[in-house]
Amino acid sequence: MGLRKKRHEDAPAGPPHDWAVELHGVRRQYGRGGSAVHALRGIDLALPRGTFTAIMGPSGSGKSTFLQCAAGLDRPTAGTVHLGGTEITGLSENKLTALRRTRLGFVFQAFNLLPSLTVEQNVVLPMRLAGHRPDRRRAAEVLAQVGLADKARRRPGQLSGGQQQRVAIARALVTRPDVVFADEPTGALDTTTAAEILGLLRQAVDGLGSTVVMVTHDPAAAAWADRVLFLADGSIADRLERASAQQIAARMTALTAPAYAGAAA
Ligand SMILES: Nc1ncnc2c1ncn2[C@@H]1O[C@H](COP(=O)(O)OP(=O)(O)OP(=O)(O)O)[C@@H](O)[C@H]1O
Ligand SMILES: [Mg+2]
Repeated sequence: MGLRKKRHEDAPAGPPHDWAVELHGVRRQYGRGGSAVHALRGIDLALPRGTFTAIMGPSGSGKSTFLQCAAGLDRPTAGTVHLGGTEITGLSENKLTALRRTRLGFVFQAFNLLPSLTVEQNVVLPMRLAGHRPDRRRAAEVLAQVGLADKARRRPGQLSGGQQQRVAIARALVTRPDVVFADEPTGALDTTTAAEILGLLRQAVDGLGSTVVMVTHDPAAAAWADRVLFLADGSIADRLERASAQQIAARMTALTAPAYAGAAA
């Protein structure tokens, strides 16, 4: 079986965990020598299956690089990444592409739907790309889960931004992936619509047992997560569990202005 059970230093005492995402000593360096940029400086973490994690941090702290490495879109310079128990760091490009299509879901700020396809065709696209027969019953099921049962035959251009992002979430969930990676999924939406989208991601975790990893700049968005990991200069500088938007915002302020926070303490 692909399942890999293993203890991690972050794990609570008790039975071994079923980790959806594991990073061990992950480094990502751009360039070499004196001009090298250390985007990730040694990330160690393990995220339990069926949980919602937010990644925050100042601009340039390594959030996008982290997501790309964790999702197999970029290769770390050093260290290993496991997804759903499979080490992806050594996989060939073909195997990695196949794994991304069948076992990962992606949600982006810009929705990234294909305008010429219907909503239903967009949702089953991951199945088609993986060479499987599109499962229309499954498409109807996930579209109902995101509240778009009646929009299957529409085109993305006929939907609001929030509805388009719902389609993107349905597409991300259609293969029942090990992990859904979301990069600023609410960045282009107003506050009310953003809350609906975050509620859907929360519901995917609580109701369907999905694992969600979301990069966000917004403390209110991060407050929907079970935990927030704060990146600073390529390292995990802090973490909060079950925190409020206020607590998260305060921690972000401390991270971005450490000298000021230190002087005020
Ligand atoms: N392709 C690249 N070549 C060189 N340096 C890069 C490359 N991509 C990212 N970097 C650098 O790596 C560091 C981390 O970048 P990253 O994009 O991960 O930050 P981020 O936290 O996502 O920032 P933002 O909040 O602005 O999106 C930055 O110093 C950035 O300039
Ligand atoms: Mg970024």
